[in-house]
Amino acid sequence: MSTKESLIRKLQDKTARIGILGMGYVGMPLAVVFAEAGFNVTGIDPDQRKVDTFNKGVSYIQDVPTETVVRLRKAGKLNMTADFAALKDMDAVSICVPTPLRQTGDPDMSFILSATEQLAKYVHAGMVVVLESTTYPGTTRELTWPMLTEKSGLKIGEDIFICFSPERVDPGRKDWTTLNTPKVMGGITRACAEVATAWYSRAIKTVVPVSSAEAAEMAKLLENTFRMINIGLVNELAIMCERLGVDVWEVIDAAATKPFGFMKFTPGPGLGGHCIPIDPLYLSWKMKELNYNAKFIDLASEINTNMPRYVVARVLDAMNDRGKVLKGSKVLVLGAAYKPDIDDVRESPALDVIALLRKKGADVSYHDPHIAHIHHEKEGWKMDSVEDVIPAVKESDAVVIVTNHKFYDYNAILAEAKFIFDSRNALGKLGAESEKVVRL
Ligand SMILES: NC(=O)c1ccc[n+]([C@@H]2O[C@H](COP(=O)([O-])OP(=O)(O)OC[C@H]3O[C@@H](n4cnc5c(N)ncnc54)[C@H](O)[C@@H]3O)[C@@H](O)[C@H]2O)c1
Repeated sequence: MSTKESLIRKLQDKTARIGILGMGYVGMPLAVVFAEAGFNVTGIDPDQRKVDTFNKGVSYIQDVPTETVVRLRKAGKLNMTADFAALKDMDAVSICVPTPLRQTGDPDMSFILSATEQLAKYVHAGMVVVLESTTYPGTTRELTWPMLTEKSGLKIGEDIFICFSPERVDPGRKDWTTLNTPKVMGGITRACAEVATAWYSRAIKTVVPVSSAEAAEMAKLLENTFRMINIGLVNELAIMCERLGVDVWEVIDAAATKPFGFMKFTPGPGLGGHCIPIDPLYLSWKMKELNYNAKFIDLASEINTNMPRYVVARVLDAMNDRGKVLKGSKVLVLGAAYKPDIDDVRESPALDVIALLRKKGADVSYHDPHIAHIHHEKEGWKMDSVEDVIPAVKESDAVVIVTNHKFYDYNAILAEAKFIFDSRNALGKLGAESEKVVRL
């Protein structure tokens, strides 16, 4: 039996041992899906605090209930370590490490490099490796493949199988999860995709093989660039509608009644999270190397990046209209997470909105039911969420809704507030009809 056949057999009968490199928002739910399917899974993460929390039987990822961690740990299906040597016993490894941007806006590949360097120490014949981290097209072929085979001498598609499979998880979402969201799989060779498809399809409902790792890398970038550009478009529409004196929310709702050819996107205070503001810049960076300027990405990025500034300018104007100055006023920001009902503050526009309000001299506080503390690393300040919303609303001269969490009782907030700037249309009709409210 060839190496490939025996590996496929192990994957099919679930005796293959699975390693997940990087147990964050992506890695942990993926590890759980494999463990629930009956594989023995080991999560490997250098963050000792995460390992300790897991080993106490506590989940540190909102989408993974603590009961699941406890059950899978007890059953011996899922364990976690900070020791990379665990990789030597693995047959199949998914890499789910961060891919942020450097201060300069260029891709920060250091996590992929360090994870792959660690894996290269333990790589062996009969191993399948799937890179899941979002990255520029060409990474798997130009970086992962050589790093894993140069020293080991393993032959691609015969001894070792390397693929790219983009992660599509949408934290906080209940209807589409890691388990039932189709998974695109592109290999360095056809045999690579065949092995990885045999593995993932034992746990994930739909696996969609494509002809190359590059096609899979690019598919992810298309998905997120599509979102980024459409968000940029509605953000600009909001700016245009304000100049025209037209209600942008009414316009969008009216357009969305078209049953075909239109997809609804809504404006907001700016982009956030680990994906939409960042991933398209991986593509534009790569294209610059090829002397091509990704114009749509640059334009949308410029509009989206400017939204926190636009929101603060609108707050300033609205207060001015009410005979108030922002300087010295008490401003309460509602919601710090980058989107509703999640506990992730990475790249959140709330941080920029708060920073800009502070620069204008406002006395700013924030409330978020999911985020107890925030830290603006560039500016070096920290803030704790106020405890109770309604007393804080009562005390404030202005409330700025940045994230429309379901947690909030918007009727009560409207009743108690002196003035609200609603950047998400969280108040809907109530906001449209109230003199106290200005909407984006
Ligand atoms: N969070 C999302 O919604 C989402 C969705 C789709 C795709 N992605 C992509 O998935 C990737 C992972 O994102 P995430 O949100 O899970 O990040 P995360 O920061 O939540 O988790 C990454 C984990 O990797 C660990 N890590 C760092 N260096 C490591 C190393 N050398 N070896 C092993 N582990 C290491 C970190 O300690 C952390 O626990 C990124 O490329 C991201 O763009 C994220």
